[in-house]
Amino acid sequence: MKELNITTKIKVCTYDELTPEQKKLADTAKEATFRAYAPYSEFFVGSAALLDNGEVISGNNQENAAYPSGLCAERVTLFYANSRYPDASVLKLAIAARTKGDFIEQITAPCGACRQVILETEDRGKYPIEMILCGKEQYYIVESIKDLLPLYFCKNDLG
Ligand code: THU
Repeated sequence: MKELNITTKIKVCTYDELTPEQKKLADTAKEATFRAYAPYSEFFVGSAALLDNGEVISGNNQENAAYPSGLCAERVTLFYANSRYPDASVLKLAIAARTKGDFIEQITAPCGACRQVILETEDRGKYPIEMILCGKEQYYIVESIKDLLPLYFCKNDLG
């Protein structure tokens, strides 16, 4: 029997170690948490995408009294980016979260459904999407969504 070991490379940084572009996206994602509509969970998520046409698109989670009708910040952001600029590639995506009090200490990683949508966005674009996962003072940089979704299913698998 053979064993496969899958490794994920994550850079762990402070704010000061981010590039100016990464700082701008992290700041934009954090700022977007303040416009989230999350009265049920009170978990306010923001995200920001940098496109290869220079546009920065931000979004946040949008909840609903019928809970499953709500949508995560990442999908709000990417669906809007893809609908507004269908020919642009997403280069970077930052994600941040806040409770009523403050930004959460630990980084926020995308949920499984969002990882699948980020993967489709990466595959329809020209580049890997760099993920900037923001905590209060710590940041994780991941080179591609494929690092967070090993053994993924994508359109090539449909044959
Ligand atoms: N949420 C996001 O917006 N993104 C994530 O990556 C994780 C979860 C939202 C969904 C829901 O509105 C709230 O956070 C609590 O799960």
